[in-house]
Amino acid sequence: KKMAIFASGNGSNFQVLIDAIRKGDLQAEVSLLVCDRPGAYVIERAVQEGVSQFVFQPKSYQDKADYETEILGFLKGLEVDLIVLAGYMRLIGPTLLQAYEGKIINIHPSLLPAFPGKDAIGQALAAGVSQTGATVHYVDAGMDTGEIIAQQSVEVLPGESRETLQDKIQQVEHELYPTVVKMLLNGMKEATPL
Ligand code: GRF
Repeated sequence: KKMAIFASGNGSNFQVLIDAIRKGDLQAEVSLLVCDRPGAYVIERAVQEGVSQFVFQPKSYQDKADYETEILGFLKGLEVDLIVLAGYMRLIGPTLLQAYEGKIINIHPSLLPAFPGKDAIGQALAAGVSQTGATVHYVDAGMDTGEIIAQQSVEVLPGESRETLQDKIQQVEHELYPTVVKMLLNGMKEATPL
C-alpha cells in the first residue's frame, strides 16, 4: 500500500511512520511528502529518507483547486492509496476530498471534538481540563470535524507546562498514528485506478 504524507512543519509524525516501515511494523510505502512550507524541517527528513517531495507555495497558485489539482496528478501517478496528514496546517478542499473520499486521515493533539483548530494544547491548558490527548480522524471539509477513528488520553497535571504537555501528547501520537495507519491499510483494498 502506498501513502502520501502531508506536513507543514517538524515532521516527527512523518518520521515515526517511516521508522515503523523500516522496522517492518508497517507494510507500506511512503510515496510522497507534500509540503506547503518551503524550509520546513520535514523536507530535510524526506531527503534523508529518500522520499520524493512536492514542496509548493500556496500563494503562487490562483486558488486551492489549482494546487490541489497538481497534487492530485502526483497522487494518481504514484497510485497513492491513503493520504496521511501530519501537521499539515491547511484545510483540504473538494478536489482532494472527492478524489480520496474516506481515504484522508489526520492526527490532532486533543480529544476531539474538544479543542479543534489551532493551538489545541494551549486551548486545553487555558480551559483547565484534567485530561486531553490525541485523536486520529477521517478528514472532511471542516476543521478537525471528521469521523473519529481512534483516541488516546493524556493526563494534565497541576502546574503542567506547555512543553511537558506537548511532549506527552507527541509521545502518544507517535504510538497511535503508526498503529492506526497499519489498521486502516490492512482493511483497505488496492487503490482503484483513479
Ligand atoms: C502534531 O501534534 C499533530 O497532532 C498536529 O501537528 C503536530 C505535528 O507535529 N496536527 P510533527 O510535525 O509531526 O512533529
